[in-house]
Amino acid sequence: MTLVVDAEDVWFFYAGVPALSGISFQAGRGEIFGLLGPNGAGKTTLLDILSGQRRPARGRVRILGLDCYLDARQLQKEIGLATHELRLNGHLTVREVITFYGILYGLPRHALRDRVRELLEEVGLETRERCMVSALSEGMKGRLNMALALVHDPPVLMLDEPADALDPRAKRQLWGVLDRLRAGGKTILLTTHDMDEAELLCDRVAILDRGKTAAVGTVEGLKSALRDTKVVEVRMECGPEVVDEYRAAIQELNVECLRGLVIFTPNPQLAVQRILEYGNLIDRARVVVRNPSLEDVFMKLTGRAFQPAESDQPDAEQFVNPRMGRTLFGIYRLLKPRLSHNERAEAEKSQ
Ligand SMILES: Nc1ncnc2c1ncn2[C@@H]1O[C@H](COP(=O)(O)OP(=O)(O)O)[C@@H](O)[C@H]1O
Ligand SMILES: [Mg+2]
Repeated sequence: MTLVVDAEDVWFFYAGVPALSGISFQAGRGEIFGLLGPNGAGKTTLLDILSGQRRPARGRVRILGLDCYLDARQLQKEIGLATHELRLNGHLTVREVITFYGILYGLPRHALRDRVRELLEEVGLETRERCMVSALSEGMKGRLNMALALVHDPPVLMLDEPADALDPRAKRQLWGVLDRLRAGGKTILLTTHDMDEAELLCDRVAILDRGKTAAVGTVEGLKSALRDTKVVEVRMECGPEVVDEYRAAIQELNVECLRGLVIFTPNPQLAVQRILEYGNLIDRARVVVRNPSLEDVFMKLTGRAFQPAESDQPDAEQFVNPRMGRTLFGIYRLLKPRLSHNERAEAEKSQ
């Protein structure tokens, strides 16, 4: 693996409260690396740090040998960042928006037209060149967001929950685009809280849990921790007291039992038989026996369900504006030295 991203013991605090507590992982060239975790796990904060927008309180993050914070300006040439939410002027056309970003990133004017075409092809928007941004579907907006992150052809792409809010068809199209980009050698860091997406798409994942790395590895490797285990799920209408009763009843089987009636067992036949007998459930419950998923791995590692209660989730609105502001500021920082260079040239000329 050619090392591209190297995060080592990264810590970050919001007003003294830890959001990241010692995150470590590495990602290589041509790899889709998933930062996987429930809402509030610290995924976006980590992308802020990886893109040089926040300074880690402790630890070190390097991309292609550059320190993400200290060398943040040089870093912008190597990375493309697509934040969760794209806010663009809907009255501009797709081509105009990409051209605008191309100018911001300092692409030579004569190359812009060809680059815009290339990008539109790369993300599958070639028929939408003259379309108003406001007329694009959510899926197309997502792909435009990616085109903007790719304008300067960076080797590393960072995507914050790119498939969130997309319908299944748009998701598949997006995954196709990411597949092609990976085949072209890009390193893609992708945050997601969608376990299925991670299983389908990612070469390796880091599972984040409340700001900590619960595990890092290939999806298959992580699942192999539950190699000899089957999952028995008993789905039925019942309150927590009934679930507790069943838990007590099947304890003698020595199965592990988390989140209601989800049972991890090496002996599913016996577990099913026992549980059906105990409650005479044949007519009342749907029993599913299946292989462990990544979601089960998370549960096994953390002892908690992957999706937290609604009340534990951060208020999205609260954080959107500062982040958008910082993204634009990042582009401004990239542009600023060029302006001052031009100003300097002007000043020299007039002397
Ligand atoms: N601007 C902020 N101010 C204070 N706390 C924040 C801010 N942004 C995020 N947090 C908190 O930091 C933690 C990680 O948040 P975030 O990185 O947004 O997680 P994720 O992207 O995985 O949902 C959460 O507990 C969240 O409430
Ligand atoms: Mg987030």
